[in-house]
Amino acid sequence: MQTLKSTQQHMTILLLGSGGREHAIAWKILQSNRCLKLFVAPGNAGTDAIAKNVSLNILDFQAIKEFVLKENVQMVVVGPEDPLVHGIYDFFKNDNQLNNIPVIGPSKIGAQLEGSKEFAKQFLIKHNIPTAAYNSFTAKTVEKGCDFLETLQPPYVLKADGLAAGKGVLIIQDLEEAKTELRNMLVGEKFGQASSKVVIEEFLDGIELSCFVLTDGKNYKILPTAKDYKRIGEGDAGLNTGGMGAVSPVPFADSVLMEKIEGRIVRPTIEGLQKDGIEYKGFVFIGLIIVKNEPMVIEYNVRMGDPETEVVIPRIKSDLVELFISTSNQTLDKFSLDLDTRTAATIMVVSGGYPEDYGKGFEISGLENIDGSIAFHAGTKLDNGKVVTNGGRVIAVTSFGDTFQEATKKSYQNIDKLHFDKMYYRKDIGFDLL
Ligand code: AMP
Ligand code: GLY
Repeated sequence: MQTLKSTQQHMTILLLGSGGREHAIAWKILQSNRCLKLFVAPGNAGTDAIAKNVSLNILDFQAIKEFVLKENVQMVVVGPEDPLVHGIYDFFKNDNQLNNIPVIGPSKIGAQLEGSKEFAKQFLIKHNIPTAAYNSFTAKTVEKGCDFLETLQPPYVLKADGLAAGKGVLIIQDLEEAKTELRNMLVGEKFGQASSKVVIEEFLDGIELSCFVLTDGKNYKILPTAKDYKRIGEGDAGLNTGGMGAVSPVPFADSVLMEKIEGRIVRPTIEGLQKDGIEYKGFVFIGLIIVKNEPMVIEYNVRMGDPETEVVIPRIKSDLVELFISTSNQTLDKFSLDLDTRTAATIMVVSGGYPEDYGKGFEISGLENIDGSIAFHAGTKLDNGKVVTNGGRVIAVTSFGDTFQEATKKSYQNIDKLHFDKMYYRKDIGFDLL
């Protein structure tokens, strides 16, 4: 399955998702002369301006099938993890009307690297990839979990096994509180089904960065590194968000560290997938913590990060559709990846109140005045011809510079031209990189 003829010059592509990540991927796909037509489902006001939005439910694979056949779609690119964890890759592979259409993303079992923290930990340990020590527990073994907590030093790291919309990780100082939260997760179903199993792991103290890899299941390309800023407040204070900004490359990821990351983590990961017979043709997002100069894995995601994509993708000079074709044909070893050496930074402009309650439908003005930066839309939609807010994270403003300070400065100058009710953004992205 999934071999594309080289004679196939131009293709119709369907991209699934609706965030800043998808606007950035769409923007890049449209720079390829291999793309004839791009559909984005469901998309946002930003993708609507450059491609064709279609209102499909991205978990309704039957509806996606009908659309793909009707529009003669020749490639499907999956932005978020949900359709992957639900098996969209296998759905296409096992359908004889669809099995010649490549899906960029892992198989259902491969997506378990993100869909189950325990699966990921077992994979890491089995393939000798550095990660925090752990144990996992269920409602039946909750008291054993409490005993295990007693053997650890604070802070305590509790992770819901399944997908919990980025909220399933708790880091707690106090032992009694950690036991209470463990019971809430396992017995009280704090995160529903996602916390029917909980991974408790050793706390790692260090600095985080993300490594992005595109693999065809045999070969891989390491994409630019990035660092995102997850907390809502300046100085990394306050609640966790999906990400308030990102910088690429990460200045401290020098060649010595990158060699360790490739040798100890990236290569064993791709070899592990092969050894375990896991089909994987897509992105691997490896969340790392550097502890005393040694990289350790804190998580895998089976998609690109958001807002990391808004800095990683603009730094790829190579043709993205060609890169995807090589991924599906398993010829990434022959692909020469060309990267922009400049620094890219993105600042996420959000709706006041996010990540808690926030309003929607506020009119956004000033987008037409952006100059020298790229405004990637996240939570936006068109309403009677006007662009209005439609989510917590609204717009990611990306700029290039010789340094991250130069890049962030350009983004801030352009953000000054934007306005909507209760607009908020962090003014210190990159602060810890000085
Ligand atoms: P995750 O969803 O697994 O990426 O966890 C969310 C965040 O929790 C990470 O970005 C880290 O900041 C933090 N975290 C997760 N696991 C650990 C750990 N073992 N030690 C320290 N911090 C962690
Ligand atoms: N920015 C973190 C993520 O996409 O998971």
